[in-house]
Amino acid sequence: MKVAVYITGGIAAYKAVNVVRLLQKNGHTVRVGMTKNSQNFVGSQTLAALSKYPVLDDLWEKEAQISHIELADWSDAAIVVPADANIIGKMAQGLADDAVSTTLLATNAPKFVVPAMNVHMWENPALQRNLKLLKDDGVQILDPDNGRLAEGYRGKGRMPEPDKIYQWFIESMTKDLPLQGKKILVTAGGTREQIDPVRFIGNNSSGKMGLALATQAAKLGAKVDLVYGQVSVPLPTNRQIKVHAIKSTEDLLTKVKELFKDEDALIMAAAPADFRPKKYIDHKIKKQKDIDDFQIEFEKTPDILKTIGQLKNKNQLVIGFAAETNDLLENAEKKLTNKKADYIIANDVSKGVFGSDENEVVILTKDGRQTRLPKMTKVELAKKILELTIEKKNKD
Ligand code: CTP
Repeated sequence: MKVAVYITGGIAAYKAVNVVRLLQKNGHTVRVGMTKNSQNFVGSQTLAALSKYPVLDDLWEKEAQISHIELADWSDAAIVVPADANIIGKMAQGLADDAVSTTLLATNAPKFVVPAMNVHMWENPALQRNLKLLKDDGVQILDPDNGRLAEGYRGKGRMPEPDKIYQWFIESMTKDLPLQGKKILVTAGGTREQIDPVRFIGNNSSGKMGLALATQAAKLGAKVDLVYGQVSVPLPTNRQIKVHAIKSTEDLLTKVKELFKDEDALIMAAAPADFRPKKYIDHKIKKQKDIDDFQIEFEKTPDILKTIGQLKNKNQLVIGFAAETNDLLENAEKKLTNKKADYIIANDVSKGVFGSDENEVVILTKDGRQTRLPKMTKVELAKKILELTIEKKNKD
C-alpha cells in the first residue's frame, strides 16, 4: 500500500519515525509530509532518509521536488501521526494554509488521525467538537492513551505506541475488504527436477502471475500462503503473505496437501514439471569419451491440481491454469473436467507470455461459462481473476 504519513507538532512526533519504519517493514511504501512545528521535535532529514522520498513541508519552496497534489493523488491512505489540535481543527473546517493541511484537503484517500496532546487540550470542547466533525466525515480516529504526559502529570492525551497504531491502521483499512477473513493458497513459479547435483529439468515460468495473485489477494484482505518454486522476480513482503519455498513437484504436492485443508481456495499458478528423471545420479555425470549422445529416462510427477480437485470439500474453490500452445479452449475444457477444478484460466503461451508483464486469458467455469478478458497487465489480471472467482463466491 502507498501510505502518506503526515507529522504535526507535538513531542510524540519522534514516535512517528517508528510508525514509518513499521509500515515499511510490512511492505508498504511511505512518503512523508511535515508541518513546520513538527520539525522542532524531529528533523525532516531523518524522515527523508528513512522514506527515501523528499519530505513535503512547504508549498512554495522552489526546490520542492513533490507537489501536494501529487502526494495527495499518490497515496492509498493518509495517517496524521501525531495529530495536534491545530491540524484537527483545520481538517474539521476544511482549511488549507500549509503543505500538510492542503494535501489532506486534496486527497481522496481514507484518513486516519492519531491525536496526541495535553489532557486539558484533549478535553477542550472545541477540540472534541472538531473530532466529532471529523468522525462524521468518515475519518478514523484513534483515541489517545491515558498515562504520563510530557508535562509531568498523568491524563489522557498520550500517543499510543507505534505497534498499536500500526495494528489499528491495518485493521481499519482491511475490515471492509472483499476477501477479509479468507485464506488463500497460491502456488507460483516453476519446479526443478534434479538430474544430478549440478543439472536439473526446469521450465520458463517467471512466477509473475502467481506473485501478482498473492499480492492482490492480500491487498483485498485475504491471508495468503504462497508456495513458490523457481521465480525471477522479488517475493512480496506483505505481512499477510506467508511464503513457503519448494523445489520439486513432489515437494509442491506435499506442501499444498499440508496447507490446503485450512484454506478457502487454491490457485495453482505454478508450472510444475510434469516429468522427473527416473533415477537421481548423486554425482556429476561426466562426459564420456567417444559417446556423443546421452539418454535420461523420465517418469511422470504427481498432478497436484487433480489431486486437490478430488480432495476439496464443497466450500473450497480450486482454480487452475491451462498453458496451451494450440487448441486453447478445447484443451482447457479437458483440464477443467479431468482435474475437477472450479475454474481454469486458459492461457495461450505460444506468444511470449513467459516473463512478460502482460497476459490475455479466457476464464472457464465448471458450469460451462467462458469469460474472455482483453490483454492486460498481470497485476490487473490478478485482480480480475480474484473478482470473478473468489469474490464472486463470497457474494453468491
Ligand atoms: N499442474 C499440477 N501438477 C502438475 C502439472 C500441472 O497441479 N504436475 C497444474 C498447473 O499448475 C495448472 C494446471 O495443472 O494449474 C494445468 O497445467 P498445464 O501445464 O497447463 O497442464 P498439464 O496438466 O501439465 O498438462 P499438459 O502438459 O499435457 O498440457
